[in-house]
Amino acid sequence: MVDKMSVPLGDRSYPILIGSDILANLGEELSLNKFPQQIAIISNSTVYGLYAQIVVDSLREAGFTSLQLNVPDGEEYKTLETLNTIYDFLIENNFDRGCGLIALGGGVVGDMAGYAAATFLRGIPYVQIPTTLLSQVDSSVGGKTAVNHPQGKNLIGAFYQPQQVLIDISTLKTLDSREVSAGLAEVVKYGVIRDDDFFCWLENNVQELKELDPKSLIYAVKKSCQIKADIVELDEKEGSIRAYLNYGHTFGHAIETLSGYGQWKHGEAVSVGMIVAAKISANYGLCTKQDVDRLAHLLQEFDLPTVPPVFSLKEYVASMMKDKKVKQGHLTMVLNRGIGDAVLQKITNVESVFSSVL
Ligand code: NAD
Ligand code: GLY
Repeated sequence: MVDKMSVPLGDRSYPILIGSDILANLGEELSLNKFPQQIAIISNSTVYGLYAQIVVDSLREAGFTSLQLNVPDGEEYKTLETLNTIYDFLIENNFDRGCGLIALGGGVVGDMAGYAAATFLRGIPYVQIPTTLLSQVDSSVGGKTAVNHPQGKNLIGAFYQPQQVLIDISTLKTLDSREVSAGLAEVVKYGVIRDDDFFCWLENNVQELKELDPKSLIYAVKKSCQIKADIVELDEKEGSIRAYLNYGHTFGHAIETLSGYGQWKHGEAVSVGMIVAAKISANYGLCTKQDVDRLAHLLQEFDLPTVPPVFSLKEYVASMMKDKKVKQGHLTMVLNRGIGDAVLQKITNVESVFSSVL
């Protein structure tokens, strides 16, 4: 069975298909969607070895022609240099405006292929086929595409929506358990910022999710995508409430940048970032210490870290001040109001606010 939902954005609306063992439906779905006939599949050698055959066969059976490029595997390769290899490949193979891209992989492949699609010939259509839990619940939906800069995460990018997202939860069977946990961090995020019932459901379904029970996974992925789609519909370009999706990310991005990309998984860094944000929220009187403990307990149940790596306060602050969310020298943080609601808070004295929780 395939569940279908939509990201409603006028003429840029697109479907999200969610199911188990649905990769083979890709060709048929792209035909219905009138996707370009000539396609470049951007992936990496890990994912390509596991899932390319089924994707290529499905495309061929539906009359598409595809070429494939693997980019190196890892956050440390989410760079302008790797992006250039995608442009080289497209140009060498005479791709034109009538062609399309498929991103087959996790968030690293998805963010890079998406940015290549946004910029190549000023924009060509693309489809997201996310194969990690994190990319299925977050990065494949909403059109944020980017590469990293040595001084900060995702500093070079564009908002550019895909034509379709196809989520096959059966691909998670081959995923490392550490990657599953990293994805669960973003799932927990949705509960904290938007939905206390969902947070309770997560507390009651820890084991099922860790064991990749299909019914529980589909519920969690659908719920996460629905929350994200609702927010993106209201605020596509992050003028207001889309920023809530960055809960835990201000500090999380600093962990990733300071540690060297690839050392911490994005979801792990966000896990610690959420605890830091929750402690600050408690200091502002927005939530209780019990809320912070509840969040920490759930993250630990999902085998996620809750303690920051050792860097000096000065290093953390300098890194956070390079964040995209800094405007005219002011850092705005997403804080949680209890569990299930979020608020944006301008932080005027960054050093003292963070020194009280680190
Ligand atoms: P990732 O893409 O690095 O994937 C993690 C690892 O899993 C990689 O080694 C990958 O090759 C491997 N893998 C992927 N699918 C697999 C499968 N089915 N079986 C076995 N191995 C598999 O990491 P990620 O956590 O998916 O994504 C993190 C990235 O996403 C970060 O760069 C982050 O900034 C970005 N992100 C973007 C958004 C957005 O809105 N665009 C949101 C959240 C995160
Ligand atoms: N992951 C943050 C966003 O999509 O806005």
